[in-house]
Amino acid sequence: MNRVRCTDDVIYMDNLIIRPEARGLGIGRHVWNAVVEASRPGNIVLDGVQAMVPWYRKQGFTHSGMDVTTYSFRVTGSINKPVQCGVSVIDLCDSHWPGVLTLDRTVYPTLDRERILRAFMVGNDVRTVVADDGREVVGIGSVHKKTEGLYGLRNVIATNEQVAEAIVRELLVGLPQESKVLFRVPVGKKPMELLGGAEQGSLNTRLHSDKTIEICTDNLWMALCNIV
Ligand SMILES: CC(C)(COP(=O)(O)OP(=O)(O)OC[C@H]1O[C@@H](n2cnc3c(N)ncnc32)[C@H](O)[C@@H]1OP(=O)(O)O)[C@@H](O)C(=O)NCCC(=O)NCCS
Repeated sequence: MNRVRCTDDVIYMDNLIIRPEARGLGIGRHVWNAVVEASRPGNIVLDGVQAMVPWYRKQGFTHSGMDVTTYSFRVTGSINKPVQCGVSVIDLCDSHWPGVLTLDRTVYPTLDRERILRAFMVGNDVRTVVADDGREVVGIGSVHKKTEGLYGLRNVIATNEQVAEAIVRELLVGLPQESKVLFRVPVGKKPMELLGGAEQGSLNTRLHSDKTIEICTDNLWMALCNIV
């Protein structure tokens, strides 16, 4: 199991996996208890495997955040079609950060996510782009390479769907044909037209232990995986 300290008082728990042959022996509960204990008094957050939601609730994860549906998509020539939305989509640079954080606050009004975004949206095997309408940052999105031929769209925030689509197109157009791309869409939204044909996967519920973290999904087109 791993643990990410997202802010001073928010901790994300992730990937509790016990080898199949060792399951049912109480090991999972020991690992869980140790991580929960080490994370207190923080507000602990997780994206729950749906079958275990009743169990998480019994453990005190009584506050619900957003629900997301996972999808997978194969990159083909269809993404070459340009998206007209009157913004320029360019690689993230230092001068964009104030605008990125302002935009991020429209989704997470009470969380300062600078540390999280800098950790996950900059670095090796990650590409992050912003949409700029000439006055301000109106969108951000990133893609990262998981393994050869497998990518994840991490986070797409944009002031409207056309901008979100332009960002996703820019991120996908640079990937090798036939690459597989995973992404998560907040429940209530559908994958954008560009991603028509994406295969729907599981539903995950984000749960919080102590209190709900306010999230407004109006500008959120793809959710971050495994971090708040
Ligand atoms: C879920 C998992 C980590 C449990 O590990 P484990 O060592 O077998 O679990 P334990 O024997 O310690 O049991 C812990 C509790 O989980 C419950 N549980 C285990 N698997 C479950 C499942 N699939 N659905 C619901 N509850 C489950 C057990 O009933 C037990 O509940 P109790 O403490 O109230 O009796 C393990 O099955 C696994 O690795 N699964 C695949 C990955 C996964 O789904 N991870 C969940 C992410 S939190």
